[in-house]
This record gives sequence, structure tokens and C-alpha cells, in this order.
Amino acid sequence: TEALAMGTSLLGFKGVAAQTSAAFDQVIVPPGYSARAFFSWGDAVLEEAPTWRPDASDDWQAQMQQAGDNHDGMHFFPFADAHNDHGLLVINHEYINPTLHTGGMTFFEDDTGRKQRPMDQVRKEQAAHGLSIIEVRRDQHGIWQRVSKSRYNRRVTAMSPIDLAGPLRGDNRMKTASDPAGVQVLGTLNNCSMGVTPWGTYLACEENFHNYFVNRDGVDYQQRDEHRRYGIGNQQNSRYYAWESVDPRFDATPYAEQPHLGHCNEPNRFGWVVEIDPFDPTATPVKRTAMGRLGRECSVLSLGGDGRMACYSGDDSRGEYVYKFVPEGRFDAAQPAANRRLLDAGILYVARFNADGSGQWLPLVWGENGLTAENGFVDQQGVLLNARGAADFLQATPMDRPEWVAVHPQTREVYVTLTNNSERGSCFRVDAANPRPDNLHGQILRWNESDADPTATTFTWELFLLAGDQPGTLDDSGQPVAEHLTGNIKGDIFSSPDGLAFDADGRLWIQTDSDDQASHTARTGCNQLLCADPVSREVRRFLVGPSGAEITGITWTPDYRSMWINVQHPGISYPASDGQTRPRSTTVLISRDDGGVIGA
Ligand code: FEO
Ligand code: CA
Ligand code: CA
Ligand code: CA
Repeated sequence: TEALAMGTSLLGFKGVAAQTSAAFDQVIVPPGYSARAFFSWGDAVLEEAPTWRPDASDDWQAQMQQAGDNHDGMHFFPFADAHNDHGLLVINHEYINPTLHTGGMTFFEDDTGRKQRPMDQVRKEQAAHGLSIIEVRRDQHGIWQRVSKSRYNRRVTAMSPIDLAGPLRGDNRMKTASDPAGVQVLGTLNNCSMGVTPWGTYLACEENFHNYFVNRDGVDYQQRDEHRRYGIGNQQNSRYYAWESVDPRFDATPYAEQPHLGHCNEPNRFGWVVEIDPFDPTATPVKRTAMGRLGRECSVLSLGGDGRMACYSGDDSRGEYVYKFVPEGRFDAAQPAANRRLLDAGILYVARFNADGSGQWLPLVWGENGLTAENGFVDQQGVLLNARGAADFLQATPMDRPEWVAVHPQTREVYVTLTNNSERGSCFRVDAANPRPDNLHGQILRWNESDADPTATTFTWELFLLAGDQPGTLDDSGQPVAEHLTGNIKGDIFSSPDGLAFDADGRLWIQTDSDDQASHTARTGCNQLLCADPVSREVRRFLVGPSGAEITGITWTPDYRSMWINVQHPGISYPASDGQTRPRSTTVLISRDDGGVIGA
């Protein structure tokens, strides 16, 4: 009744105010809720891990045993016998903030020479990538704790062996000087969002892998679609990290005298879905090449009633596309071994959003619709390796940076965040699905597959909301906010939707990743978690995080009474919030003081 009194059946909490101060260093949640830091960069993962040193002087061997940096997508996997009290938390560590690891040193003030990096710093940065798997359980007082001594506690890093599976396993285009068979990669990079399978595995997704590699051969670069189309660096150094200065596998320049052209193919081995079984700490993670190579944000599964399914992915760069992978086989709970091969065969599709609200899934299948050798696609492996190029050829719809996807638990309606695109209206023409030029606030789009069938090749879509200020808003100088910065949110405003997930009741949880110090975010403020009712479209702000942080990653216990979210790259002291201890990316635990369902 309290929820009804507040105007909707789904949103039962009192919204929190936006926080617009650059000095805001807290996480706030509604009255009746609590939030506490649960797992920060540097916290112990392995039992023998040294205690994190606040001066960031831990070496790379310590980092291998501690939580990585930039916590992003995550999932709680319950133990079967204690669903809501005991499980494994799997957390992506997307990237690193180099200056925090090195006491203020910056690496890329210019791009005119080859920067030489110290090997121990590079190893520490590599060790801070990947993911953490930690056992968590409630103690005798009902308080969630990390279990320090656990056979499941594990780090996967940018150095961990990962098997290749699917059509590109052993392919010539995957062979390198250090892996002449093309069957095993070292590491996973830039794990942003994720997915979960009905057979109990975690899908970590490799997003901005292009920042880690360089190809200095300008002529080769222009001809090599799998480098150029993905934005691999082509100056003296890789775009961000210069690992190549001490670790040659990140130098993807083809040196003819080396076997398999040296490490020219190393970037081909990133951009995939990485499947991990958290309950088998001895199992090697696997990159599933049948699902295609993207700047892959997420891989979110929708299961049909007949066991057939789709995995939806955004490719988060300006003007990139929305994809789905439809496995050939069906999920069958009685065939656990067969399920482990489901992601190795199927069809990758890319979306076209027509102006009339209809849409098509265009198959990225070699030999069909012009994906042939005459047009630069020599085989299906080539299509998967350059999925972006194949999608260009099929005239898919270039989107405003597709981030997370969420599937409604009852209707299978699919939602995607389109975070923003400053180049809409200039590099990319305005269209019905991406309707605002210089789109700084982003939108959420939703679609229904024909017959609610995840494998359908047609759908109908609409815009769920346009983020940004309310129409008629005045800025600080009393002028009306520009029209392209106003949206149509019913309720609390926000900018740049990114994380997105449904709970079991059908509440849509929205997380934001905006520049909170920009003029266009003067009224939305620090990044936040909001909750929307998909029917009434009301949006209410549930949580605000510290200045400079993105809010990302969301998971619950199966009863939806405990929730974890991530505060990524805080720009201010957090979680210490003492004005001096360095910022740490942190997993935050949220609960309701009366033990109720979060948000209800
Ligand atoms: Fe890593 Fe697209 O966010
Ligand atoms: Ca993201
Ligand atoms: Ca983002
Ligand atoms: Ca991020």
C-alpha cells in the first residue's frame, strides 16, 4: 500500500537527491537502506595476499593476489544449498588508472617517441586487469563477509592462460610467435560488462582492447581490417599503456622475419566473450570465437521456452552496432556437458532499426548477402574476426554507443542503453533510433522479438526514454537548456545510461557513466543508480556515488534482498572518504534495514 501511495506498484522507495558537488565523496541510498564498501581494489582475494598498502607500493606479485582495479560487470552465483546466504561473487576489473599505481607518473603526454615502461609497473597493470572470484557468505549475525580461505577464490589477469574455442581456434589468423598453434591466449583485457548462462557460467566481455596494441607499419595498418576497423594504435605507442615497450606481444607490427609475423595477430585474440566456470577453479577460461569479435560491452542471454536462446551484445563505440548470437543448439538442463559447447556454433546477427519501428536481424554469414571474397570476406572466420566490417557491409544501424542489454524476466522484451554520441549529426546522421544531434545524454531503446522468440529475425522497437534535462529547464545563467540536451524522463533526471538490469519483479535498474564535471551534467551531478517502471516509465533515483566515479555492475542474491553495485574509478578519496587516502574502485553492498526486497 505504501508503494501504491507513491504512485506506482513497482517503485517503493523514496528517491534521493542529485549531488552536484565535486567534493561529494559518499554513496547515498534512500531512507531505510544501508550501503557499505565490501571489496575494494587491493583487498585480498587469495588467502596469502599481503595487506593493501595505502601508498600503492604493492608489487605486481602482490597485485596478482589482490583485487584488481576498475570493478565493472559482476554476478552473484549462489551455492545450491544456501541460495541467499552463500555464493561466489565474480567481478570484472576493466582497466587500470595508471597514475594511481605509479605515484602520479603519466605515460602519454605526447606520442612522438617510444615510451619505455618499467617492466614491474607493466606487470602490475596486467595483474590488475581481468577478474576476481571471491566466496562470500553471511556470518552468524547475518552480516555478509568475504571468505578469506576458499578454494574458489581466484584471480584471472591479463597474463592467465585462456583457451580459444570455436571457428577461429587454430586458425592462421590467431597464430603468433608465442602461440604458433593459435589455441591459447594469455589473458583477458578490458572486461566491461558480462553475461550469465543458464548452465551456471559467467561470460566476461572484452571491450576496449584496441588501446593495448600498436601496429607501427602504416601501409600494413591501412590494409589490415582487423586492426584498422577496430582502432588499434598506429603511432609510436599503443594508445594508453605502452606495454609493448617491454612486452613484445603487444607490438602488433608485422615483422616479416618472425614466425607468424611476430605478434601481428595478437589483437585478433581479443574482443571475444570469455566463458568462465566459477565453481571449477581448475578450469581454464575459454574465448568463444563463434560469437564474433567486437568492442564487446556485454553478452546477455535470453532463453526461450523451447531451450533456444540469444546472447545480446552492444559494441560500445560511436556509431557501432547491436548484435545477437543465436546458438545452433538448445539448452537442456539434463545435458550439462553438451551445454558447455553451445556457444561454439551458431549465427551472429546485427540489428537494423527502421524508421517505422520495425527491425531486422541481419545474419553475418559468409557467402550470403555479399559477404564474399570479392568484398573482402574470404571465409566465415574472416567475417567473425571483422564483424564490424561485415556489419558495415550489411548496412546495420550505427548507434549512439550501445552499452548494456537487459531482458525483461516475464515478457522477454529487450532493452539497450545507448550512452551518448557527440558525433551524432556530424559523423553519423540523425535517425529514428538515434534522434538527437550532439547527443550528450543518451537514450534507452527497447524491442520485442517477433512472437517473443529470442531467435526471431524481425522485431518491433521504440525509444523507452531520452535522458537529459526536462524541457524548459534553465541553466545557471538563466537561459533555457539547448533542445538537444533535454529529454523526456518521467521523474528523476540522469545522463549517459550504461549499466542496465532487471530484477525478478521487472524493475529496470539503470546505472550512469557521465562526466559529472561537465556543463551538461550540472543538474544530474554525480553518477547514480536509478530504478524505472517499464510500464509507467517512471524513473526514481536510488543511489548516488562519489564524484568522478561511474556506477556500474549490479547483482543480487536470488531473493533480491541483498544487492551489490560497483563504484568505478572514484575521482575523490573513497571508500575512506577522508580527503587523503587514494580513491579505490569498490564493490558496495546494499541492503534494506527491514530485510525487504531492494526497491520494493
Ligand atoms: Fe566499459 Fe562501454 O563501458
Ligand atoms: Ca559500460
Ligand atoms: Ca560507459
Ligand atoms: Ca567504465
